[in-house]
Formats: sequence, structure tokens, C-alpha cells
Amino acid sequence: RAAKKGIQVNIQALLSDKVSQALIAAGASTDCEPQVRQSAKVQFGDYQANGVMAQAKKLGMPPRQLAEKVLENLDLTGIASKVEIAGPGFINIFLDPVFLAAQVEQAVVSERAGVSTIATPETIVIDYSAPNVAKEMHVGHLRSTIIGDAAARTLSFLGHKVIRANHVGDWGTQFGMLIAFLEKQQQENAGEMALADLEGFYREAKKHYDEDEAFAERARGYVVKLQGGDEYCREMWRKLVDITMTQNQITYDRLNVTLTRDDVMGESLYNAMLPGIVADLKAKGLAVESEGATVVFLDEFKNKEGEPMGVIIQKKDGGYLYTTTDIACAKYRYETLHADRVLYYIDSRQHQHLMQAWTIVRKAGYVPESVPLEHHMFGMMLGKDGKPFKTRAGGTVKLADLLDEALERARKLVSEKNPDMPADELNALANAVGIGAVKYADLSKNRTTDYVFDWDNMLAFEGNTAPYMQYAYTRVLSVFRKAGIDEQSITAPVVIGNERESVLAARLLQLEETLAVVVRDGTPHVMCAYLYDVAGLFSAFYEHCPILSAEQPVRDSRLQLARLTAKVLKIGLDTLGIETVERM
Ligand code: ARG
Repeated sequence: RAAKKGIQVNIQALLSDKVSQALIAAGASTDCEPQVRQSAKVQFGDYQANGVMAQAKKLGMPPRQLAEKVLENLDLTGIASKVEIAGPGFINIFLDPVFLAAQVEQAVVSERAGVSTIATPETIVIDYSAPNVAKEMHVGHLRSTIIGDAAARTLSFLGHKVIRANHVGDWGTQFGMLIAFLEKQQQENAGEMALADLEGFYREAKKHYDEDEAFAERARGYVVKLQGGDEYCREMWRKLVDITMTQNQITYDRLNVTLTRDDVMGESLYNAMLPGIVADLKAKGLAVESEGATVVFLDEFKNKEGEPMGVIIQKKDGGYLYTTTDIACAKYRYETLHADRVLYYIDSRQHQHLMQAWTIVRKAGYVPESVPLEHHMFGMMLGKDGKPFKTRAGGTVKLADLLDEALERARKLVSEKNPDMPADELNALANAVGIGAVKYADLSKNRTTDYVFDWDNMLAFEGNTAPYMQYAYTRVLSVFRKAGIDEQSITAPVVIGNERESVLAARLLQLEETLAVVVRDGTPHVMCAYLYDVAGLFSAFYEHCPILSAEQPVRDSRLQLARLTAKVLKIGLDTLGIETVERM
């Protein structure tokens, strides 16, 4: 019925529903878990229901006997062509080719390849990128930016309201020093600002601060004035933020990342909340004075002596800490932004910091338990030598330099393959491949582990890489180009005539299921693996099932499968922020 209304069926959801009804009819409790999964092997069918064993145990029944009863009650007419019991009580489900064909027909005419938008959209805040002011973005911010942006794209595609929160490091005592140095530079260079080299600027400022007592004195005065809202200091501070974010925006644009200036919600935003938070935590009895500082002792965390860990929220000198800001920030995201869920893309070294901040947030009742705060952490980016990624000289690699190198390498690669391509098309292609390779290399790895940054691997045309995926997409398009067919014009019915077609069709219809996993776990590598599989299945299909030389109606039916493949690849790569091209 749903299919008639033009709404694509999520096959896993459909089968879960049917199997749980059958389980209940067979005597299982109403909250039973059917555990319907995509089968790992073709011989196990397209889906496998694994929920029988747990229920049989509960009922004190031999699992195969329960499985038999479930099958008696399982009506998959029009959905499955074969259902069988395997092993200790697995149920293997083989989808009906007629059902698959109907689903493909629905999906192929849909702009979203049949993926429905979410019935109950949520407001989801995503904390990602978060570079620091007067410091150049480096590779450490790259992973957060790339993975966080994929999460943002995926969640918005599904219809959620996404708030991109760029938690820029734009506050702290270092700003006295930075303002004093900016002032000095402006005086010496008659207003000319040499902030192009942010890293150098910061280093110089620090040097003056350490070596010139009068300068240090001035800097300390400026911190106090800035915090007090002094107009001149605010103005200088704003300049520093502006220049930094203008440079970072260039990087975001080059990276095809959706962040804009409007998404900046830096640490300074929460500054005004901090005194109130400290007072409130004291009033609630959570924070206490300890050696002049204000501290929250947490039983959940132990220090080296096995005692409750003390988390400082205000220093002896009155200054606040990174943790205080993150407490305020979580509160703000719930209270003011009305977040239903908050995702933080921050490296794993900050895990303890976040856990402490959130433990305090929960205890103080700033964010209810019903609103998840999730740390989607990631490991480090390593060089080929297995050590943290550095320049040959041992310095941190600037993002801008890294992207320049990506472009250069990609240009070499694609111009060798396409000697006759016009220059601007070649440029666009090199850009898509170079930037795509850097991003995809990161996205395709499970984010929780460290990963080795390796140019040769990421730019290879074989394996789960951006160039391979981009090429696979153009190969599908070339089928239509070769035949001079406008893919939109095909209206032929789909007939699933053999196993290669049915395996490809079933996989193509799993885009929505894949997206669901990605948004639940924040794991874009699951999408990469899915798309890589789709590309491989298409290759096999293309090799064994001639398309253009086939007789009608098979030819047009196969063209429909090709058309859906192109759509799925394009949408999937879009959600990852990977650009596609028409030919390469
Ligand atoms: N600016 C920080 C850094 O460079 C990352 C901030 C992450 N977000 C947060 N809410 N703490 O390490």
C-alpha cells in the first residue's frame, strides 16, 4: 500500500514488522526483538531474522520448534519468494523478484532514490571543526571538519533540523597577548596587518610576551579590559576573529564543507553565562571552594589516589576553564537552541574532559537525560611511519598546504589519463578527485581508530577510494551516453531476471537502511562501505548482463537498474560531501 502512495518501503523495517507479528502470534512477548538484518551471504537470502533464539530461551522452547511456529504465522506473500529455517533457528528470507522490481520502479522515479524523509524531525546540534583564533587550522581539525560535515549533510538529507555549531576557540587569556601584538603591528606597519601567517603571528606574540616585560604587562591589562567589555579591546578582538575566520572559510569552501560564518558559535558566546553557572553549581551544593578555586568533586571519576576527581570550574584568580565553557555550552544548546540531540566531533583525547563536563551538566539538571549528548570521537591522523602526521621538518602540517598538494597530485593523475580534456574541465576534475580523495580517505575508515594518511592509497583507482567511486559513477553514466539515451526518458517496467540483477536491486534498495545506521552511530564509513559494495555489484552486473545489446524489454529494464545505481551513488556521495563529475 505504501508503495502505491509513492513512498519507498524500508525493507528491513517492513520485514521486522512482519516477523515480530509472527513471533507474537507464535507466543513471544509483545516487546520481542525480531532482529532482522541484511544477510551476510547470498545463500542466506537477502535478510535474516535472528530473534527466534532469544525468544525460545524465554519461552523454554527448542528454537527450531519456535521457528517453525513463526513460519506458520509469517505471511510474506508478495514480498518474499522463499523463507527457510537455518542453523539453530535463523530465518532466511529471499525477496521476491516481482517485489524487488516494483520497489526499483518506485525508487528510480524518485529524486531521493526512494528514501523517505523522517516522520518526526529532530533539532540536532553538531559541534564540529572548531579551530582556534589566531592559529592556523591544522590536520587535527581536518577529521572533525570532514566527518562532522558528513553527519550534518546526512541528517539534513533525512529531514532533520541541523544546527552546525563551530565551537571556535575565540576566548581566553591569550587574547591579551594577541591584542597587544596586533596593536604593535598596526603601529609599526601603519595599519597594515600581517596576519596572513597566523601561526607566525601567534609565535611572535608569544615571544614578545615571554621576553618583553612591558609588553606582558600591557597584555595582562588587555585581558582584564576585554573581559570587562572595553570597546577598544572588543574591536581588536573582533579583528582577530574576523581575519582567522576569513582564512578558515577559504579552507571550508575548498573542502566543499557546508560551514559558513553564520555557524560560528565560539567559546566567547558562553562567557556571559559562566558566573551564573558557577554560582548555581555552588547553590546546588555541587561545587565547593577548594584551595581558593571552585571545584566540583565527581565520584564517577577517580584520581590517582582513588579519591573523587576534582574538576576546577573557576580558578583562584577568577578565570574560567574550558570545562566551564562546555558546561554552559551544553546548557545553551538545550535551553536556547532546543536541541533534541547533540553530537560532538572531537578527537578522543578530549573524551574525559567531555565526560566530566556532561556529568556536571546532568547532575545540575541543565540537560535532561532524554536529550543525548554524544561524543563521536576519532583517533589521530598518522603519517606512513605510524607517528603523528607531521611535515618532513617535524612541524604541524597546515591544511592549506595539504590541500595544495592534493590538487597537484590529482592534477598529475587525471591529466595523464585524459590528455585531451579541456583545461577548465580538467581543473574541475582534479579538484573533485584531489579534495575527494583526502575526504574519502578519512570518511571510509572507522573514525574511532587512528588512521594512516597515505597519498598513494587515497589516490588509487582501485579499492575503496574517492577516485574509484567517482570513476564508478561516470561509468554508469557512460552507458546512457554511449546509447544516446536521456535516462529520464525511460519508462519501461523493471523485470528482475537473474540473480545478479536481484542482488544489485536489493542492495540499491538499502540506501535508506544505510543512512539510518550512519545517523544513529555517526559512522560515515558505513556509507562508504555500502557505496563501494554497490559499485562492485554494478560492475559484476555490467560484465555479466549485457545492457545495450540485450533484447527489449530486458534492455530497458537493465537501463532502469543502471539509472538507480547512478542515483544511489550520487546521493550517497553527496551525503558524504564527495563531489561527482560526469566523466573522467
Ligand atoms: N577548539 C578546540 C580544539 O582545537 C575544540 C573544541 C571542540 N568543541 C567543544 N565543544 N569543546 O581543541
